[in-house]
Amino acid sequence: MSTGWLEGYVALVTGGGTGIGRAVAERFVAEGASVAVVGRQRHVLDTMISEQAQPERWLAIEADVRDTDAMQAAVETTVDRFGKLDTLVPNAGVWDFHRQFTKLSGKEIGDAFDELFAINVKGYLLAVEAAWRDLVRNNGSIVMTLSNASFYVNGGGVVYTAAKHACLGLMRELAYELAPHVRVNAVAPGGMNTDLRGPESIGLSDRSIATSFAKRDPQQGMPIPLHHSSVDPRDFTGPYVLLASREQSGTITGETISADGGIGVRGFDSPAGGDHLLGLVTC
Ligand SMILES: NC(=O)c1ccc[n+]([C@@H]2O[C@H](COP(=O)([O-])OP(=O)(O)OC[C@H]3O[C@@H](n4cnc5c(N)ncnc54)[C@H](O)[C@@H]3O)[C@@H](O)[C@H]2O)c1
Repeated sequence: MSTGWLEGYVALVTGGGTGIGRAVAERFVAEGASVAVVGRQRHVLDTMISEQAQPERWLAIEADVRDTDAMQAAVETTVDRFGKLDTLVPNAGVWDFHRQFTKLSGKEIGDAFDELFAINVKGYLLAVEAAWRDLVRNNGSIVMTLSNASFYVNGGGVVYTAAKHACLGLMRELAYELAPHVRVNAVAPGGMNTDLRGPESIGLSDRSIATSFAKRDPQQGMPIPLHHSSVDPRDFTGPYVLLASREQSGTITGETISADGGIGVRGFDSPAGGDHLLGLVTC
């Protein structure tokens, strides 16, 4: 169901060819926006756009988010094509597959840190650096993809958890520094069944988080209050629309909406306190 909350908006989504980035881009278009998607592989972006009903509202930009010049060019190309930029979604990232600190050598920690922080943290900062002037011109906003790992342990290993905590700091500092002209907020999803990969430098670039979901028993659910909530990235896009919309969230900046099934209210005895409630009510 679309609301039209983003009618006439122009957005740029990094890592927009797959996963939650693609889902957000598709949802933004459904809400009335035009969207530029940045990704490393041109053919992935082109194939995705060829599947869209309104390809004229899409723009594919091949760029590595670690490359300052490429990110400047990505914003310029977006503004040339669509005339402005209203919303930036820094989202491209990799995961460390819960690699525990004690199982990594010193060299692996160094390599994983350099690669993962360059993509997940510096990549966010460079996207903002390229976009802030156009966002200031348009009273725009930034909606970052954070993670449950921005708040809690064991959503990754030390490197990913540290990087996602760093992005929380980035989001909050930028919300201060870009106010009053640009609102800066974030969505922190929990587990999603996407193609999330790992750092190439420690041999994890061919591994996908999707294999972990494939091994999971869907009947069992997850150890969180909403233990049977969706892991389809399309079901995480609503908060992005809300936070991108000036009309709907014009008073919100420096905030994160967690879309993680309630990790922060997980119980000690059982993840959800109301599992028995259906038995107490007549349907
Ligand atoms: N999948 C999950 O369970 C989960 C949970 C919480 C947060 N996240 C976050 O969601 C974001 C998107 O991940 P996803 O799960 O959709 O996985 P995904 O792999 O489908 O999406 C990540 C995208 O980033 C792109 N990318 C990676 N490195 C890049 C680079 N150097 N330059 C340009 N593009 C690059 C990838 O090609 C891919 O398209 C990430 O920031 C991730 O940390 C994912």
